[in-house]
Amino acid sequence: MKMLEIKGGNPLTGTIRISGAKNSVVALIPAAILSSEEVTICNVPDITDTTALCEILEFLNVDVKRATESLVINPSNMENKEIPSMYTKKLRASYYFMGAMLGKYKKVTMALPGGCSIGARPINLHLKGFEALGATVTNKENIYTVEAKELKGANIYLDFASVGATINIMLASVLAKGTTIIDNAAKEPEIVNVATLLNNMGAKIRGAGTSSIEITGVEKLGKCFHEVIPDRIEAGTYVILGAAIGNNLKISNIIPEHIEALTSKLEEMGVFLDIGTDYIIVSSGKDYKPVNVKTQTYPGFATDLQQPLTPLLTMCNGRSKIEETIYENRFMHIPYLNQMGADIRVKNQTSTIIGPTKLTGTDVVATDLRAGASLVIAGLMAKGTTKITNVEHILRGYENIVEKLLGVGANLELKDI
Ligand code: EPZ
Repeated sequence: MKMLEIKGGNPLTGTIRISGAKNSVVALIPAAILSSEEVTICNVPDITDTTALCEILEFLNVDVKRATESLVINPSNMENKEIPSMYTKKLRASYYFMGAMLGKYKKVTMALPGGCSIGARPINLHLKGFEALGATVTNKENIYTVEAKELKGANIYLDFASVGATINIMLASVLAKGTTIIDNAAKEPEIVNVATLLNNMGAKIRGAGTSSIEITGVEKLGKCFHEVIPDRIEAGTYVILGAAIGNNLKISNIIPEHIEALTSKLEEMGVFLDIGTDYIIVSSGKDYKPVNVKTQTYPGFATDLQQPLTPLLTMCNGRSKIEETIYENRFMHIPYLNQMGADIRVKNQTSTIIGPTKLTGTDVVATDLRAGASLVIAGLMAKGTTKITNVEHILRGYENIVEKLLGVGANLELKDI
């Protein structure tokens, strides 16, 4: 098991370069198998989720070559085998192989994880989409078989603008007969990134990034070269860190409009942001005003950033509130922040952060990816030493986090315990 030991209080200065988006690459890698030829994806982050998905590709006899920051994926000798839970349980996003293999072979059998710590995370909307395309779904102790004699385009309305369901239905319908319309589709930038890959492979997808996406089925998909967009959640995490303890901290290689809901909230607090075309420079300030945040689907305030934002709100003069509307259990970082000296109460789906309070280092546990990120920020802000265990959660989604933080003056060390 890995532990992160942080000695807090150092002002952070210098540049952090943002990596490719985890929530894009975890869909791009499965999507690549829809091609009958080689697909090159660059700006691929070196995170454990990427490694876990490449293991699934290799299990399916897909040829994967990893260069420094790119993957060359050649599915021409791929086999349609049942994917066991030893591979799929490592990350929820393994379910993108369901849509991709259904789309490619019209049949897929794979184990899928149940919910994870932040919520039940059902896949009913994914399965509803597959059935609308003509597939039948059977589930025997979490081993799903999804198959169709023929996949035919359909009009699909999503009860919730689910990111995963939107992408999985796109993957299942690109080679179907006829046209599929996804209404109430999710609009996250990662969906546009996946649709662009598929169109570069020869698919016919229009409207990605809006709430209505039209996919016209084609016969074949082929070779292409594609780039992962910058990770807006990694970017937002480091901008928040800069507002907490930065001294002209520059976050580079970002797309500022992807985190507009965050930056406008930070400015409302009184954080000064120098926002350039592909960077943000931020420093810690004083007399921050309390704010109210409500998580929403894109372009609203991202649920993935409410946990990293929480420690920063302990610096505000007064009561801030965060209402979590997407997941039912995304406040597991709060007890640890309170152990560090924060004064945060949770009632139903809303946390109330009373500030200002000073944070002091102590031993804490990362319960999930973004809770872990929240504790890293708190540890860097706190007086004294913070030891975070279960750091594997954090390494899933933040490429080279230790090196990036050391590079801007943080005092931390990753240890095996
Ligand atoms: C993606 O998860 C992200 N993960 C999540 O990031 C992110 O929080 C989420 O989108 C929302 O933006 C990846 O992209 C790998 P959803 P996803 O389907 O696709 C319910 C992180 O920290 N729902 O939009 O699973 C679901 O229970 C992770 O990087 C159904 O009810 O999100 C949840 O309450 C965490 N039925 C809500 O919708 C379904 O069939 C949002 O889910 C699907 C989802």
